[in-house]
Amino acid sequence: MDISAKTISDAGRANTACAVVPVYSRKLMSEAARQLDKRYKGIISAALSAGDIEGKPGETLVLHTGDAKGTQRILLAGAGTRSKLKAATLRKLINASLKALRGSKAKDACFHIEELGCDELPIGALCEQLARSAAVSAYSYSETLSKPKPAPSLKRVHVNCGGAMKTAQANKMLKLGRQIGEGVNVARELGNLPGNVCNPSYLASEAKKLAKGNSKLTTRILEEKQMRELGMGSFLSVSAGSEQPAKLIVMQYKGAAASKKPYVLVGKGITFDSGGISLKPGAKMDEMKFDMCGAASVFGTMHALLAMNLPINVVGLVAASENLPSGRATKPGDVVTSMSGQTIEILNTDAEGRLVLCDTLTYAERFKPAAVVDIATLTGACVVALGSHAHGMYANDDKLAEQLTAAGDSSHDRPWRMPLWDDYQKQLDTPFADMANIGGPGGGSITAACFLARFTGKYKWAHLDIAGSAWNSAPKGATGRPVGMLSHYLLDRAGVKLG
Ligand code: BES
Ligand code: MN
Ligand code: ZN
Repeated sequence: MDISAKTISDAGRANTACAVVPVYSRKLMSEAARQLDKRYKGIISAALSAGDIEGKPGETLVLHTGDAKGTQRILLAGAGTRSKLKAATLRKLINASLKALRGSKAKDACFHIEELGCDELPIGALCEQLARSAAVSAYSYSETLSKPKPAPSLKRVHVNCGGAMKTAQANKMLKLGRQIGEGVNVARELGNLPGNVCNPSYLASEAKKLAKGNSKLTTRILEEKQMRELGMGSFLSVSAGSEQPAKLIVMQYKGAAASKKPYVLVGKGITFDSGGISLKPGAKMDEMKFDMCGAASVFGTMHALLAMNLPINVVGLVAASENLPSGRATKPGDVVTSMSGQTIEILNTDAEGRLVLCDTLTYAERFKPAAVVDIATLTGACVVALGSHAHGMYANDDKLAEQLTAAGDSSHDRPWRMPLWDDYQKQLDTPFADMANIGGPGGGSITAACFLARFTGKYKWAHLDIAGSAWNSAPKGATGRPVGMLSHYLLDRAGVKLG
């Protein structure tokens, strides 16, 4: 998708397949709407007075002008009360407009957003959001279909900020938005691929591919042999029952001096989670191909980071493994020794995410991180607690939690902080090892985070439980979250302002 800014003084004179113009509550027209209304002899006034659209947020109406050479279509987009523009309203306007455009055959569109900046979403941030949503709306899955879906008609989006922002600055924000949106799509595609395609080796080759031709990115794959030498008994216990070897994928992005401490992202990459010997029930088990969405978000964020070329250092670690039962599989009651030296009694082989993550988090120490953020579809309990809108967030550092919250707000990809109190730790007690890998029925997302906390004492750390936010069940598909939030977190660390 091609997205760029254009300054247009009279919307009525523009040449486009579809002009997108706001109309406000009580049938009030924006200036761009007024210009088009004048050019096309009252076509918008007629629609408004007929009551076909009122201007409520999320409403849209497509009008055809019959003018093949000028503006072919006008998409009226409800923007709510003119004097009370809100970020939520503008997001609704953007998404509803893109949906209407997807339903049309328009090849290009021009969004007139000059009047739409507000305190909550200044015009620059609005540009970023619009470009991100446009890029995300261009994605559809087709990799394993025999007949690929027809490509969407919409190929180009122009944005007219009028006098509200300089074209060069608008273009900068639009570009950032598109780069983040494309990162989101990378995560969605990896998440959507089936487990027999996207296995740990596939993820490893994707990491190598990403590094090719990018002098700022280096990729290393740790094989099971090296992981054994490092003492990663916990990580390796998960793939014991699988024919697919586990991989620890290390992606190092160097955008700043080597002396600058890196931000480390750690993704859970269980390419299929059957539960192992503690086998899951059959219903919806296919959705456990999405159990690598944390890893996918690390890939998506690295992708965006490379495109944005930020002057910071970032390390992406992906713990890739497949959890299957077999004669060689780990059994409930088995005790393993983690790289940290701590022993773990595996009471449930379905609590495997924390087993691959704990060794990866210990491995992260060697990068002397500024902060570590892990992203994992870790617990069904998190879905019960928060549903699909918020990521569960845990942190051993308040400032890091605040930074992630701010990044979530600015990208509308929000986390909600959960308690990481010591009081919960004793639920992991067992007579047979330093800890058990499950903490009983209460507070399942919290005790999973408490387990990880035992491996992250040496640095600032946050954990994102994305079990509810990483994919949708109807229609089924990966969301690409939290690539938006992580990209904004890194933009903040690099000092880039989106306003
Ligand atoms: N990948 C699952 C978590 C999950 C379940 C995500 C459902 C999304 C939807 C994880 O590996 C798992 O199985 N967790 C168990 C932990 C339990 C055994 C303590 C769970 O949540 O049931
Ligand atoms: Mn599991
Ligand atoms: Zn899992």
